[in-house]
Formats: sequence, structure tokens, C-alpha cells
Amino acid sequence: MDYSRSLLRWYRKNSRDFPWRTADTDPYVVLVSETMLQQTQTSRVAEALPRFLAVFPTIQDLARASNADVIRQWQGMGYNSRALRLRDAARSIVELHGGVVPCEMGLLRALPGVGPYTSAAIMCFAFNKRVVVLDVNVRRVYSRILARQKTTLDLELDETLIPFAEQLIPARNASAWHHAVMDLGATICTARAPKCGVCPLAEQCPSHDMLIPMTRPRRTEPTFRGEPQRIWRGRFIEVLRKIDGRSYTSISKLFTLAAGSPLQRSEHEWYQQTLQRLTSDGLIVGTSKGVRLAD
Ligand code: ADE
Repeated sequence: MDYSRSLLRWYRKNSRDFPWRTADTDPYVVLVSETMLQQTQTSRVAEALPRFLAVFPTIQDLARASNADVIRQWQGMGYNSRALRLRDAARSIVELHGGVVPCEMGLLRALPGVGPYTSAAIMCFAFNKRVVVLDVNVRRVYSRILARQKTTLDLELDETLIPFAEQLIPARNASAWHHAVMDLGATICTARAPKCGVCPLAEQCPSHDMLIPMTRPRRTEPTFRGEPQRIWRGRFIEVLRKIDGRSYTSISKLFTLAAGSPLQRSEHEWYQQTLQRLTSDGLIVGTSKGVRLAD
């Protein structure tokens, strides 16, 4: 039943190489990378992180950044309002904690945009503290090794997973352990087609070779011209990001540049609401001259 030893042995040979996995982890880098990793694929984050850190090498640099600056550097990552909350968290850390990322769950949770996942990830990856970090991959791996799951979709509840995880995390290697679980979940214990045949935990795992493949029906997202709302939001920001400086772009031109064809009369209401939301999220500002990225 010694999962820890088998998994850490596997990880020593098979760990994925990422720019945020360095020997001396800077808590600021963990804050940035784990925020990026929440909704964006690892390969994209691996490209974007060094770029972002070249522009904002320290927490003080990020704290000083304007809205437009952070949004520009967030390119390729999507969910731009996350970037503003990350900058706000950097500001709070500079103002309240002298620029030092706190090593305390409660203080981390109080930061803008920092939820249960990010705070636990910082405690674990920046400070090597023995806390339970749960993301989708980790939940899946723990569920399958904790109890026999019938299908690839089945998961245990967090209240069951947390005490199980607490006794699995090794005393001195919490950070490596969580990276190992994440890597196993991303490469072998995958959502749709787990590779039980090559799994280092095969002998101990009650779900080994048992999982019936199932896929969840796709969530229906609000769409416009056949594409999800969030794609359109990203596209408008992308157009404004490329237009340099503080100049305003007329809203009809913005639409045409983003959509490749002019706005139709029947689409006005949707477009107005979308711009309204980008404004209230602090991503753009508008005047009678048009819109631009917010400062
Ligand atoms: N997903 C979220 N955090 C991660 C990490 N630190 N390594 C790999 N994948 C992750």
C-alpha cells in the first residue's frame, strides 16, 4: 500500500520539465504560475511565464503595472480579468506584507483572486508545507487509488479525498509529491484513456484496468456567431492589445477587426452587453471616441 514511495520513484525518472519547477522556488513565481495554470494548459503557461517574468521580474514590478500593461503581457492566456486580480494581489502583498508572499493560509486566502487552490499551491510549492492541493488531475488520481471507480468519470467527494490525501503526503517532500501526482494525472491516469498498463501504482490501485471509458456531454456555453462568449471577449482584448498606446478605437471598427465582418443590426444588443461587461471587469474603458485597454 505504499503509494508514496512508488510514485516518488516514478517521478524521479519521469518528471515533466517546466520553467516553474526550479530548485529554489521563488514564492512570487509560484503565485504567478499557479494563477496562470488554473485555466490555461501547461504548454501555454510554459511559454508565457518566462515572458511575463522578464517584464515583471519582481512582485514590486507587477504591483506597479497598469491594467493595460498586465493585460498586454497576459497574451495567449485567456480570462484577462485574472491578470488584473493577480496584479491586485501583488499590490496587497507589497502594501500589507512588505513585498514578501506570506507563508500562512489565512493571509493568502485574503488576497484578491487567491482561492483555496492557489493558496494551497503556494503553501506547498513555494514553502514545501504539507497541505493538501486539489486540482482536477489530483482529484482524479486520488479517487481512483482510494476506491474502485466504475467509470473514467467517477470521483470521490472532497471530504473523502482530503483525509485520504493527508495521510499520503510524505513528511518532507510535499512539493515533489504534488508535482508527481499532477504528472501522473496528466500523462498516465488521464481523464478519458488511462494507461493502466504503464502505471507505477498499478499493483496497489483498486481501479487498475477497471475503468469503463465515458465522456461527459459538453457543457453548453453562451455563443455568438457559433463561438463561445469567452472567445469573443478574448478576441476584442486581443485587437486592443495589438493597437499600441492610449488611442481609442471606434466600437464598430473594433468589432470588424475582431470578427472579420461588420456588426449586423440584430447583433447590437449582444455587442453592447459584451463591451459593458469588459468595462465593468476593468479590462477596457470607453468614451464617445471609442474604447481602449484600461490603464
Ligand atoms: N497544474 C497546476 N499546477 C501545476 C504544476 N505546478 N505543475 C503541473 N501542472 C500544474
